[in-house]
Amino acid sequence: MLASASAAAGVAALLPGRLKPKPRADLLKRLATAAALWLRHVRDRRPFQYVVGNEHWRDLVVAVREGVLIPRPETEAVVDMVGKVEGFEAGCWADLGTGSGAIAVAVARMLGSEGRVFATDVSEVAIEVARLNVQRYGMQDKVEIRHGSWFEPLEDLKGKLMGVISNPPYIPTEDLPGLQPEVGWHEPKLALDGGKDGLEHLLHLCEGLSSVLKPGGFFVFETNGNKQSEFLVDFIRTKWDSSFRDVEAVLDFADIKHPCHLEEETNILIKETEIKWDMIVIS
Ligand SMILES: C[S@@+](CC[C@H](N)C(=O)[O-])C[C@H]1O[C@@H](n2cnc3c(N)ncnc32)[C@H](O)[C@@H]1O
Repeated sequence: MLASASAAAGVAALLPGRLKPKPRADLLKRLATAAALWLRHVRDRRPFQYVVGNEHWRDLVVAVREGVLIPRPETEAVVDMVGKVEGFEAGCWADLGTGSGAIAVAVARMLGSEGRVFATDVSEVAIEVARLNVQRYGMQDKVEIRHGSWFEPLEDLKGKLMGVISNPPYIPTEDLPGLQPEVGWHEPKLALDGGKDGLEHLLHLCEGLSSVLKPGGFFVFETNGNKQSEFLVDFIRTKWDSSFRDVEAVLDFADIKHPCHLEEETNILIKETEIKWDMIVIS
């Protein structure tokens, strides 16, 4: 008894001031402060990912903060599609509207020594966070981050890209007020607002594709669901019938068709997805 009391006194003497046991009242006060803070986050409907500063996405822990979109589980499938393109490992890829850089980092990790990803975004916060994630995974040699609007930062890469990946803003402007608070109050409008019918950026991307892709190139983008995908497939088939082939809408988490016969033409694959905002609800 005596021996253990003196041992405890000895250990206490070795502890630096900040590690000394706090009086109970002090601990209770700290707990109350933490609980109040937590309740405020819940009341403000702040996504948990912004509170902790990370999101688990594929096998990555992606840094996020307000001002950058939290990457969604359904977007993970886009990376698998890239992995099915013949020779993708050695190609140059662009991730347009990279946000946190999740797609760019995941694709870069699958590439060989010659492969590169050019990740662009118009948001300075996104550029900062994407840089952080690229560094977190040591991908600085494989991912080049460029600031600017869609194809603008890729002038020097015209006709050189093996593929373009994009999860652009695609929510119709008129639907924004109806988004659940975790999304509408906290996630950046710049990442969500797709303009009229949600198609503004998607159409712009379609228009610019042929100038950046090399022959036989591949394109995959995410949409708001059936209606948008069907419209875009029709639009592309009608407008560029002779330039593109294998234009397809692919269902989220369904069997993804491998785009075959990558020869002269450019292949487009439209990934269709339903938004599953409930994935980030704090309840
Ligand atoms: C739906 S978020 C996707 C983010 C990320 N790729 C992901 O899947 O988590 C759309 C991204 O497009 C970016 N964006 C919006 N307008 C843009 C533009 N004109 N040029 C480039 N990026 C833009 C937003 O800042 C945002 O990061």
